[in-house]
Formats: sequence, structure tokens, C-alpha cells
Amino acid sequence: MRIVLLGAPGSGKGTQSQLLVKAHGIPQISTGDLLREAVAKGTELGLRAKAAMDSGKLVDDAIVLGMIRERIAQPDAATGFILDGFPRNIAQAEALKMLLEELGTPLESVVLMNLDLRILFKRLTGRRVCQDCGRVFNVYTSPPGAAAHSKECGETHRLIQRPDDKEEVIGKRLEVYEAQTKPLIKYYEAAGLLRIVAADADVDTVFNSINRAVQRTL
Ligand code: AP5
Repeated sequence: MRIVLLGAPGSGKGTQSQLLVKAHGIPQISTGDLLREAVAKGTELGLRAKAAMDSGKLVDDAIVLGMIRERIAQPDAATGFILDGFPRNIAQAEALKMLLEELGTPLESVVLMNLDLRILFKRLTGRRVCQDCGRVFNVYTSPPGAAAHSKECGETHRLIQRPDDKEEVIGKRLEVYEAQTKPLIKYYEAAGLLRIVAADADVDTVFNSINRAVQRTL
């Protein structure tokens, strides 16, 4: 299975990718996670990406494409992958197409996670991430509660808010999505790859919808 999860910030791409990884045994390739890892390690690439990320803008295409080329070439991606947060504009989509043509492994489907703007805002402002294990919670829809005690993290998850989940940055991210990422909907529709899923339901319902949508193309 080679799929892209396409959707606005907060539409649930990361949450659903994790479930798809468990169900299908293929890796999630999240450019956001790869970039955050580089920032946390303080690599040169991370330092170059940080300013754009903190202000809600896209990171330079050349940086992101280099990371994707390297990640897709790894053995665990040979049987498939879930692209989460990539591509983000037409130039990235064209580069991906060429790369996958070279490898002889074209995309099978692109799932658009469709969601109302007001819900997105609440999901993003409410998101909290465990700084140790990376598990994602939401103060409104999935508070840590009993899950605050975890084996991975010892006693309690240490929750933080992503710097780009601050209200003042969310507006910019949604603007960037409208201007640069949304044109991909028509692009993939024209390519016959687009599947649309209602992403405003609960996590399990959305997961079932995605599975039905991708099965139609396999
Ligand atoms: P990235 O990390 O990709 O962020 P994003 O696309 O803005 O997406 P998010 O991670 O914010 O949301 P999500 O859709 O994964 O939602 P989640 O599942 O967490 O990118 C960050 C930055 O990196 C970019 O701004 C840019 O600077 C840079 N970047 C990344 N890729 C790039 C690229 N290709 N090119 C250039 N720059 C790039 O869910 C959100 C919340 O909602 C959570 O709290 C979750 O618990 C909750 N939730 C999820 N599903 C449900 C549900 N069904 N019901 C109720 N709550 C739910």
C-alpha cells in the first residue's frame, strides 16, 4: 500500500497514520516528524527549518525532498508507506511522482481528510504531545486521563504544546494550507487518485472510512 494522507493541519493525519501502521505493517513517513526530530537534535538541517516551522510557513522544498528521497529508499518502505504531511505543494507532488516513477512504485491513492475549519482550530489548540514518547493527546477530545500513566514513560506523560499550535501560528498554517496545499486536491483528482473521507467523526470511524477508501484501489 502506497498512500498519501492529505489534509489541513489538525485533520488527523498523524493519528490515522499510527493506526494504519499497526494495521498494515508499513511505515508512516511524516515530514513534520522528521523535521521536528532534526530541530530537536540541533542538526544544520533542523536549524535551517526551525524558523519556518515556528512561524507556520513551509520549509524549503529542497530540504524536504532530500529527506523524503532518503527515507523512501530505506528497506522498511519497500512494501509500502503512508506519506503524512507530504507533498505539501504542486512542486513537491511533481518531484514525488518522478521519484516513484524511477523506483517503479507509483502512488495507489491519496486520501483527503475533509474537516470544518472550526473543528481544526479546536483540535490544534487542544493538542498536547508527550515530550518523552511522542504520544498525542487532546485536552478536549482525548485527555490523558488514566493513560497519563504509561509503561513507556514511567509514571506520567510529560505533556507539552507544539510551538506551532499556539493560536497566533495556527492562522498562518491554515492560510498556507489554503494557498499552497489545497491545489493538490484538483491535482490528484485529475490523476484519478483522490479519495475523500469525512474526518470529523471519531477516530475509529475515520479509520474505517480510510480503510474502505484505500481498499477500493488495491
Ligand atoms: P506537520 O507536522 O506535518 O503538521 P500539520 O500538517 O500541520 O499537521 P498536524 O501534525 O498539525 O496535524 P495532523 O493532521 O497530523 O493531526 P493529528 O493527528 O495530530 O508540519 C509541521 C510543520 O513542518 C509545517 O507547518 C511546516 O513548517 C513543516 N513541514 C512539514 N511537512 C512539510 C513539507 N512537506 N514541506 C514543507 N514544510 C513541511 O490530530 C490533531 C489533534 O486532534 C490531536 O490532538 C488528536 O488527538 C486530535 N484528533 C485527531 N483525530 C481526531 C478525531 N477523529 N476526533 C477527535 N480528535 C481527533
